[in-house]
Amino acid sequence: MIDRADAALADQYEAYPYPLRDPKDEARRLVVGSPSHLAEVDHWIFGARRPASAPLRALVAGGGSGDGTLMLAQQMAWRGRAGDVTWLDRSASARKVAMARAEVRRLDNIRFVEGSLLDLPSLGLGAFDYIDCCGVLHHLSDPAAGLSALAGSLAPGGGIGLMVYAPHGRTGVYMLQDALRRLAPPDEAPAARVEIARRVWKHLPDTAWLKRNPWITDHLKGGDAGLYDLLLNPRDQAYTVPQLAALIEGAGLRLRCLVEPVRYDPDTWLPDVRLRARTAGMDMIARAALAEALTGNMGIHVAYCTRAADPVAEPDWSDPAGVPRLRENEGPALATGLPADDVLPVTFDGLRVPLPLPRLARAMFGRIDGVRSIGEIADDMAASGTPREVFFRDFEELRRQMERMNRLFLTPQG
Ligand SMILES: C[S@@+](CC[C@H](N)C(=O)[O-])C[C@H]1O[C@@H](n2cnc3c(N)ncnc32)[C@H](O)[C@@H]1O
Repeated sequence: MIDRADAALADQYEAYPYPLRDPKDEARRLVVGSPSHLAEVDHWIFGARRPASAPLRALVAGGGSGDGTLMLAQQMAWRGRAGDVTWLDRSASARKVAMARAEVRRLDNIRFVEGSLLDLPSLGLGAFDYIDCCGVLHHLSDPAAGLSALAGSLAPGGGIGLMVYAPHGRTGVYMLQDALRRLAPPDEAPAARVEIARRVWKHLPDTAWLKRNPWITDHLKGGDAGLYDLLLNPRDQAYTVPQLAALIEGAGLRLRCLVEPVRYDPDTWLPDVRLRARTAGMDMIARAALAEALTGNMGIHVAYCTRAADPVAEPDWSDPAGVPRLRENEGPALATGLPADDVLPVTFDGLRVPLPLPRLARAMFGRIDGVRSIGEIADDMAASGTPREVFFRDFEELRRQMERMNRLFLTPQG
C-alpha cells in the first residue's frame, strides 16, 4: 500500500535522482565508500573465507543514481571476480543515470530492475550473497518490513551492508525540515519546494543549528538533489545505535561490524582508567551507544550484518597464508607519508583520532600489496634482519589498529 509520504518520496527521486551524478565523470574517477566496497564485503561479511572464485550475486536495494552498484561492479570487474550486481530501485530517472554511468565504464555485470524492495519476495530475482541498502530504509514507512524483505532474500552465508541516518551528527537538519514543512508543504511540486528552501537558507538566522554544523554539506554541495534529500525529504528517521541494533536483530540478522569500528569504541576517547573500568563490562552495543553519545558527530551508521542463523565467519589473522590488503592499496603512500613519530593522524567529521602504530609499521606498509601473504612478508623482513617474533608482534598491533580503522583487511583466496 502506498501512503502519501511514499508517493511524495517517489516523486522526489523521479524529479531528483540521488545523488546528483554526471555520467561523464566516470571517465575520470570511481566513487568509493561504505558500505559495499568489495574489500569490506569480503572481510566483514565473509571473513575472507569465501573463495574469490565463487560467483558473487549482489543486490543494491534502492540503488539510486548508482554509486554503490558501480563501485561494487567495477571492483569485481577489476579483480576478475565472477558474479553480478542487481540494481533495484523505484525511480526510472535514477535508473537512466545509473545505466549511463555503467555504459561509460563498459560494465556488463550489472542487471537493472525497476521495482520496490518491499516486493522482493514476488520479484523472482532469486537469493543474493550480498545486499547493499544505503540510505533507503530510513525513508520507508516500515523500515523493519523493508529489512525483513532484504533478509529474506539472502542466500545462506550471505550478508547485508546498511547505511541509516544517525541523529546527533545531523543536528540542525530536523529543525530546518520542520521549518520547511511549514513554508513549503510536501504536497507542493518538488521544484517549488527547492526554490523556497534556497530562499530560506539565504535568510536563515545564524543561531540555526545547521549553520553551525559544518559536517553536513549535501544542501550546499549536492545540487537540488542533495538539498531536497536533506531538507525536504517527506520522511527520514534517524537511528541511534541501540535503535539500529534492535532493527537488525528484529530482522533475524547479526550485527558484525559498525564502520569505522574505532569510532564506536568509547575507550578511544576515554583514556582515564577509572572510566575504562566502567566501559570494560559493557557489551558491543552499549559501548557503541556510549561512543555515539560522547562524540556527538555521527550523522550516519554503516553496519555489516549476517544472518543470525549462520555461524560467524571471523577473519583468521593467525594464518600466515592469509593475504592482507589496504583498502585502496595505499601501502606505499602510507609507508612514505607516516610521520616520524609513527602516529597516523586521522580525522572523522572533525574528530581527530591519533593512531599510534608500531615501529615496523612503515616497513610493513611498504610490503602489504594484496598479493603477498603475511608469512611471505615475514620472510622478506627476516631476510633484512627483522626477527620473526618481532615481526609478528608488530604485525598484530598494526592489524589491530588498521582493521578498526576499516583500512586493513584479509583478502579471499582460491
Ligand atoms: C537517498 S537515495 C539512496 C541511493 C543510493 N542507495 C545511494 O546511497 O547513493 C534513496 C533511494 O531509495 C529509493 N527507494 C525508496 N523507496 C524504495 C523502495 N521501496 N524500493 C526501492 N527503492 C526505493 C529511491 O528511489 C532512491 O533512489
